[in-house]
Amino acid sequence: EKDGHDWFMRKEIHEQPRAVADSLLGRRTPEGHLHLDEMRLSDQELRDVDKVIIIACGTSFYAGMVAKYAIEHWTRVPVEVELASEFRYRDPILDYSTLVVAISQSGETADTLQAIRHARTQRSKVLAICNTNGSTIPRESDAVIYTHAGPEIGVASTKGFLTQLVACYLLALYLAQVKGTRYGDEIDQVMRQLEAIPEQVQRVLDDAPAIYEMAADHIDTRSVLFLGRHAGYPVALEGALKLKELAYIHAEGFAAGELKHGPIALIEDGLPVLCVVPPAGRDQLRDKMVSGIQEVRARGARTICLVEDGDDAITPYADVIIRLPRVPVLLQPLVAVVPLQLFACELATLMGHDVDQPRNLAKSVTVE
Ligand code: F6R
Repeated sequence: EKDGHDWFMRKEIHEQPRAVADSLLGRRTPEGHLHLDEMRLSDQELRDVDKVIIIACGTSFYAGMVAKYAIEHWTRVPVEVELASEFRYRDPILDYSTLVVAISQSGETADTLQAIRHARTQRSKVLAICNTNGSTIPRESDAVIYTHAGPEIGVASTKGFLTQLVACYLLALYLAQVKGTRYGDEIDQVMRQLEAIPEQVQRVLDDAPAIYEMAADHIDTRSVLFLGRHAGYPVALEGALKLKELAYIHAEGFAAGELKHGPIALIEDGLPVLCVVPPAGRDQLRDKMVSGIQEVRARGARTICLVEDGDDAITPYADVIIRLPRVPVLLQPLVAVVPLQLFACELATLMGHDVDQPRNLAKSVTVE
């Protein structure tokens, strides 16, 4: 049942190329139009949308953070991303022209469910991005984009996250198509870049032994920092969450630009700092990241850098380099998160923890 793997989580990490491919299947008509089968909101309803609010918890929330970058970039519609548990209690501004997007792997998370119930009382349309057919959140939503990860059994979300990202990109492109903010050939180009992702994720998985070796060097580590920028920022947060929940190690993710506003005080000799470096095509972003890495290293940090293939600017400042396939910055989370999943899974295994059933956690959180 675990396909020869020790944990469901490891099996699910390795299923990601298939999960991403399945989530993309059948989304393009022969005429090259994007088609979402359970969209159920009319083009006119979508054209009326002037604000998107994404609500989710945990890993799904980080997928929502990536979605904000994609939706705003491709559609120019303002997007807010909010933790479901905070949303309801702050009297949010909602009306019929607000599209609320609820992201939930299980479809049963109580905080998210209560948030969409509240949104619907305010006449907002609710679209669910969900992995579980027939679960409560999609049943109570106006429209659904199902992810096709297949059942996720490991408590820590992995293939659920990657397929949520795919669904978010599809939603962003679909909105762009309906609203006419992007031309068909641009949408087509991104779809082709997405269709190349399964093979690229497979290449990252083929390098797993190098990540496992790195994990073995960190068994006695008490704290790890993760840095990212742009779409790499949520990846840093997700990498830190995985390490907390599986290895029970203190871990924190930061937007790299925030370092100088406080967190840099944490840097001490030998502290591992994992850095998600933006692709070289985005030189301004990438160069800022490189100088951040230089700064933490000058203060004694051990820098572990996730860097696009062929980018050597970082080499002098990296203690460890992990290579990523070349993808556009908005899609980079799909490949960059995979080494972080492997790292947390392996480190927890080496520390003797139960990876599929971490202490104090449940797969679906049905209490508020
Ligand atoms: C982390 C994790 C949790 C869930 C969160 C939301 O690995 O699994 O943070 O992402 O509880 O769950 P769903 O997506 O089912 O609403």
